[in-house]
Amino acid sequence: MVYGKVILSGEHAVVYGKMALAASISLGVSARVVESVGNKKNLLINKAIAVAGGDETIQIKIESELPIGSGLGSSAAVSAATIRAVREYLRNPINDDDLFELTMECEKLAHGNPSGIDASVVVYGGLIGFVKGKPVERLKINQPVKLLLADSGKPSETTKEMIELVAGKPEKNELIAQIGMVTKQVKQKLLNGLDVGELLNQNGLLLEKLGVVGEKTKKLSRELRAMGASVKITGAGGVKTGSGMMVVMAPDVVKIKQLLDNGQIDYFETMIGER
Ligand code: PMV
Repeated sequence: MVYGKVILSGEHAVVYGKMALAASISLGVSARVVESVGNKKNLLINKAIAVAGGDETIQIKIESELPIGSGLGSSAAVSAATIRAVREYLRNPINDDDLFELTMECEKLAHGNPSGIDASVVVYGGLIGFVKGKPVERLKINQPVKLLLADSGKPSETTKEMIELVAGKPEKNELIAQIGMVTKQVKQKLLNGLDVGELLNQNGLLLEKLGVVGEKTKKLSRELRAMGASVKITGAGGVKTGSGMMVVMAPDVVKIKQLLDNGQIDYFETMIGER
C-alpha cells in the first residue's frame, strides 16, 4: 500500500519558498500486475509502467481509497504504487530514492511543475517539512495527532488555476508571509507535543483571505468553528464549487461528526505522525 498525504500547514505559501508541513494519512492505493484489466488505458498508469521499465503488455490493477483531485496525493500514490508493482514483477525491486525520482517523472505529466511535496510524502511517509528545492526535513513527533478529514466537495479548478488565482492577488505577499510564520509555529508545537488547533484555524482563515476557499466551504467552516473546531482546507482549494478536503480538529469530535452527518458530508479520521 502507498499512502496518501495531507498538507497540515503552508499550502500556497510553499510556492513562494515558505515551508509546508505534510504527512501521510491512513488511506492509500495498492497496485498489482494482472493478466488483464479489461478497461481502457490510463495515461498516468502507462507513464508509471514505462518509467519503471515495463512494456505495453503489462497491465495494472489499482485499488484506491483516495478520492481523486481532492488534494490527498492520489496521482502521486497511484504512480508510486504502480512503479513499485512493476519493478517487483520484473524482479528488480526499487529503493525509495529511485522511487521518488520516478514518481516525480509521473507527477510532471499530471501537474506540469510539481513542487515535489506529494511525491516526498507518498514515498518516504511520515511527517515532513518541505521547502521547494531543499532536502526534505523528516520530523519525528512523540504524540501522533488525530485529524478529521471532511470533504467540502471536489474543486472545479485545477491546482494550477488556483496558484494563478493567488498570483494575481495584490495582498498575497503579506498573507503568504503570515502563513509562513504560522507554519513555523505549527512545526515547533508538533515537535514539543503541543496542540496545534488554534494555529490550524489561523492558517485556515488566512487561506480564506487569500481567496482560495469557496462560499459553501466558508459557511461550513463557520459552523464547525462555532462548535469549537479548528478548520482549514488542505491543498490548493477551490472557489467555484467545492474546496477539496478540510482538516478539522476538535476537542469534542462526537458533536462535529454529528454536524457533518447531518449535512451529509463525507469524512474520515486519520492519525498523522505515526509512520
Ligand atoms: O491540492 P494539492 O494537493 O495539489 O496541493 C497543492 C499545494 C500547492 O501549495 C497549492 C501547490 C504546490 O505545488 O505545492
